[in-house]
Amino acid sequence: VGDPLVDTHGRVHRDLRISLTDRCSLRCTYCMPEQGNEWLARTSILTLDEIERVARIAAADGISTFRLTGGEPLLRRDLPEVVARLAALRGRDGAPVQIAMTTNGIGLGAALPALIDAGLSRVNISLDTLRRDRFRDLTRRDRLADVLDGIDAAAASALRPLKINAVAMRGVNDDELVDLVEFALARDAQLRFIEQMPLDAGHTWDRQRMVTRDEILATLATRWDLTPVPGRGGAPAERFLLDGGPVSVGIIASVTAPFCGACDRLRLTADGQLRNCLFSTTEYDLLPVLREPAASDDAIDRMLRSCVHGKLPGHAINDPSFLQPARGMNAIGG
Ligand code: GTP
Ligand code: 5AD
Ligand code: SF4
Repeated sequence: VGDPLVDTHGRVHRDLRISLTDRCSLRCTYCMPEQGNEWLARTSILTLDEIERVARIAAADGISTFRLTGGEPLLRRDLPEVVARLAALRGRDGAPVQIAMTTNGIGLGAALPALIDAGLSRVNISLDTLRRDRFRDLTRRDRLADVLDGIDAAAASALRPLKINAVAMRGVNDDELVDLVEFALARDAQLRFIEQMPLDAGHTWDRQRMVTRDEILATLATRWDLTPVPGRGGAPAERFLLDGGPVSVGIIASVTAPFCGACDRLRLTADGQLRNCLFSTTEYDLLPVLREPAASDDAIDRMLRSCVHGKLPGHAINDPSFLQPARGMNAIGG
């Protein structure tokens, strides 16, 4: 414990995404089937103490950002405690860690004061459309108003940068790209467009329906002058200043311009599986280690290191032999 998590390609890992539940209040078509998935067994879900233990060891190994994901992390009842415990950790250099969360926004307004109090640093909120009928078709729930309330609550808070994520889809929301950016700008938020990835449980991904980075840029260029922002580091989003800045828009082009070479992420699923990639087909099962009464921190640390060691240089979405991981996005954590 205490050495940086460097993989065989020299990438240093600083970001751990922790999925707190596979359940969700929405059923986005690109993520889950209508009826939901077969949910993880309650007994296999990591407890607050188990999550804290893994995070403490990861922080000692140089993880400085913890991102809470789902499913929908707000569905986890002990979320404020999770945030508080993680926010109390110190990194390798003794520096405070950052606690971020990715949420669909439903119920965020009510939850936010306690989360901020507990030490939450940042939120990213998903919003693919501003039209109620489209939102209902896409998420199979008529809850756009609840999401907008959540975004307004986040915008009114001091949490910054505030990011809004939109998956761009042909024939679904590709006529709303400019509107979405303007919506975000009006709330001092940064809009990020995401290329749709093959991670839905229904295996319905279709390259033709994905709106590519270049297409998104071409659309935005009809309205703004775009200047690339240098110095991206390990960030998945490529950013562009709008009309010279200071505001910017981001594009997460995981398919047509993968950022795997700079990836600094690891993932922990709600049932205690470590993953070194969204697309990995191997998982490293921490659950038995965590639940073995005599297991040492070193045993957990070794598991983290095996996971890092096994990381491939990149995903294979663009290879003809690509195989989608068995878990869907809601169970991996995005
Ligand atoms: P920031 O730290 O605020 O930039 O957050 P983030 O973009 O890492 O996280 P967020 O949960 O908002 O995810 C936005 C999109 O990026 C989602 O579609 C994620 O699936 C995708 N994403 C996040 N991490 C990775 C990654 O390691 N690889 C790939 N391919 N996509 C990722
Ligand atoms: N491709 C790209 N992004 C996705 N998300 C969920 N499923 C997919 C997919 N198949 C996004 C959500 C959320 C983030 C965590 O991941 O919209 O913003
Ligand atoms: Fe829920 Fe996120 Fe999946 Fe939509 S993408 S169903 S909000 S977990």
